[in-house]
Amino acid sequence: MKISAWNISLGEDEARAAYESVMNRNLSEGIKVKELEERLASFLGKKYAICVPNGSSAVLLAMMGIGIKPGDEVIIPDFTFIATGHAPKLLGADVILADVKEDIPVLDIEKVLELITPKTKAIIPVHLNGRRAETKRLKEALKDTGIYVVDDACQAFASGKKGDYAGCDADIACYSFAVTKIMTTGQGGFVTTDEDELYLRMKRLKMQGMDNIFESNDYQLAGFNLKYTDILASIGLVQLGKIPEKVKNSKRHYGLYKKALEESKNIRMIPTKEDEIVYTPDILVKDSKRIREYLEDKMIQVRPAGACLHRANYFIQRSKYKNAEFFERHLLYMPGGPDQPEKNIQTAIGELLALE
Ligand SMILES: Cc1ncc(COP(=O)(O)O)c(C=O)c1O
Repeated sequence: MKISAWNISLGEDEARAAYESVMNRNLSEGIKVKELEERLASFLGKKYAICVPNGSSAVLLAMMGIGIKPGDEVIIPDFTFIATGHAPKLLGADVILADVKEDIPVLDIEKVLELITPKTKAIIPVHLNGRRAETKRLKEALKDTGIYVVDDACQAFASGKKGDYAGCDADIACYSFAVTKIMTTGQGGFVTTDEDELYLRMKRLKMQGMDNIFESNDYQLAGFNLKYTDILASIGLVQLGKIPEKVKNSKRHYGLYKKALEESKNIRMIPTKEDEIVYTPDILVKDSKRIREYLEDKMIQVRPAGACLHRANYFIQRSKYKNAEFFERHLLYMPGGPDQPEKNIQTAIGELLALE
């Protein structure tokens, strides 16, 4: 039987919640979305959470919220999922790529600071695969500059600990409920902020620029429809309740790889802090193509690293991307996910060890 690279499951609890939502006519955005927003904000210790259709629209809403427009520059890491860069790009900004750190694939703050110009309007650190970018340090370095820090925490909801979760140090943080995330509603996402003004603006932007859709003459600013749905929020509420179990499983899975590969001559692990949750167990190998082919031959699905963003010719390169290119070449995502059976992880580890 094939072992899939990712395993997350929804069960009867989620199905029942969606059924009840339908039967109670809680369909589009209403009480269930509001309840989920309140629970997410409380979980993360933030003043506000706003749900949206997915993580990509979370980044888009954040960019619209801070008023990104043509001519602005937005700095993002060269090594991330491409959605991070598409939001500012679609609003007409120039997207400037910065290299990541040598040992961990998150923004290198020193390199970011060198790329700042009078046009820089925002920086988007990405907490990749649960590992924390140095947002707090960046915020301090940018004090009094007026440059916004928007965290892309789409791969890092719940990574960290109470009072210090990924995304909590930024002006706005963006999260995703896609299937490959620690909790899922199929599609979904949200933004968080502590700033009243940013909250109000983003609330309006996702509802056609209005505070109250029932007031026909309430045109405040040009907005869009980025509403979430009560049906999905009902599922999200169940999933959120399962976060402790999901965190425990993900940590156990990563720990199994780490322990087994400690002495390996050919495989390296990326430094990971105690309270970080690595969503998909990742390894660094010399020849990732060969190892991928070997594992897939054994019916073990693995995922290669995404290509560096400087491969897309519509983003702007102003430096070298040595570290991003290293991760692009050597990183491999192994089978994981909160509901991955432990025997699958052991099988995958066994095959890696057989290669030693
Ligand atoms: C870093 C990052 N940003 C943004 C997104 C976009 O999220 P979604 O797929 O929910 O639109 C993802 C999704 O994988 C992501 O990993």
